Amino acid sequence: MDNFDLIVIGGGPGGYVCAIRAAQLGLKTACIESRGSLGGTCLNVGCIPSKSLLNLSDNFQKAKNNFNKQGIELEGVKLNIEKMMLNKNKSVQVLTKGVEFLFKKNKVTYIKGKGVIFSKNDIVVYENNGKQNYKTKNIVIATGSEAVSLPGLQIDEKNIISSTGALSLSKVPKKLAVIGGGYIGLEMGSVWSRLGSDVTVIEYLDYITPGMDREISSEFKKILTKQGLKFKMGFKVNFVKNNNSSVLINCTNIKESKEENLEFDKVLVAVGRKAYTEGLNLGKIGINKDKKGRIEVNERLETSVKNIYAIGDVIKGPMLAHKAEEEGIAVAEILAGQSGHVNYDVIPGVIYTSPEVATVGKTEEQLKEESRSYKVGKFPFLANSRAKVNNETEGFVKILADSKTDKVLGVHIIGPHCGDMIAEMALAMEFGASAEDIARTCHAHPTHTEAIKEAALAVDKRPIHF
Ligand code: NAI
Repeated sequence: MDNFDLIVIGGGPGGYVCAIRAAQLGLKTACIESRGSLGGTCLNVGCIPSKSLLNLSDNFQKAKNNFNKQGIELEGVKLNIEKMMLNKNKSVQVLTKGVEFLFKKNKVTYIKGKGVIFSKNDIVVYENNGKQNYKTKNIVIATGSEAVSLPGLQIDEKNIISSTGALSLSKVPKKLAVIGGGYIGLEMGSVWSRLGSDVTVIEYLDYITPGMDREISSEFKKILTKQGLKFKMGFKVNFVKNNNSSVLINCTNIKESKEENLEFDKVLVAVGRKAYTEGLNLGKIGINKDKKGRIEVNERLETSVKNIYAIGDVIKGPMLAHKAEEEGIAVAEILAGQSGHVNYDVIPGVIYTSPEVATVGKTEEQLKEESRSYKVGKFPFLANSRAKVNNETEGFVKILADSKTDKVLGVHIIGPHCGDMIAEMALAMEFGASAEDIARTCHAHPTHTEAIKEAALAVDKRPIHF
């Protein structure tokens, strides 16, 4: 029997980061993971493999459609999907092994198997047919989330796939339906569309990416439509029939109450994710969950049972790897007697399409709902010299600032490289910057980041280049 200061259940970005930080702070720490490799959904079947395919498919699309026009003459550009998948798998393997190395370096004990909580100090880990007991002073639950399906819809990862299946298709489907116009649907829809699939996104609402600033989401839809993605907005999926050689979707146009039958080769179900807590024994030990099945925590991320904490997708908040990481660090620091804290007002979100979409802070809709008085500054990439020379002029930067204090309340960008650019805005907001602070910060020329400076100038109606 081993005694630990902390056992983390789940080796995803929340769990492994928490374990490393706790070990750095001198806690005797273990991390239990049942998947067989560390890194959770993000590294194994989420963020990392999808970004690999997004990058590779973007290169393919550019080589096929853009390079010739730009004086780089290529002939016979061909897709080798097997090689592309191998490249993706290699990236995943290197990174998951990297986490194992970090565990060794930081002296975190890596326990393979499925952890079950028996009391606030006892965990049993089941692996194959064996089981092992562990004692611990503290527990962090970081078991993440799983894909949601629709009622009566069976995901077989062959014809009806989740994001996991969409990351490892061995052939480009001729016709792919994507149910759900959110993060996963649009990223994976983009990948397969670039590789040659005829992609139709079926979305229940009449706008994509709910929760995002509406002006951005409407520009995003326009750009994706231009790229060849088709959208059926305001459609309710009634049932999906798997005919093995094809899949039939029966759906209703909500406004017109009109039913349609559509046929596809494959259907990707991307209608959200839910907290994963199966088999943890939460009910028996008295850990409360909310109506959505998420573990309830207080501001210290502690559950209803003392010394048991929860972080990441398994609790409320955006299901994002970096949010989970921040919570992991906060809990580790709280356990070490420090004042760990997460600023939920400044959690960036990025969609890694081409162009990217990046956002941090409040949307215009949220500010209206809160009856806050705000100013808007916008700047299009069409007027940014770097974007212009790179032939990447779609999109714009939008900064929302308080009318009276000029404090930045939200930044929303659609455009080239904005997934990286949003870090500047997150930092500015952490420091409580005003739009004027950003406008007066020297930005290198020629860079895409000048569009941020110009949008900040536009908050005060004085942009230079537009
Ligand atoms: P999501 O919540 O982003 O989008 C789901 C979409 O499905 C919504 O637009 C919703 O209106 C629609 N929908 C729900 N029920 C429907 C129905 N019956 N018929 C048609 N449409 C329906 O969920 P998604 O894309 O599955 O992603 C899950 C989570 O993973 C998200 O919380 C996201 O934050 C995270 N994620 C983040 C990524 C990133 O940071 N780049 C990439 C991929 C996922």
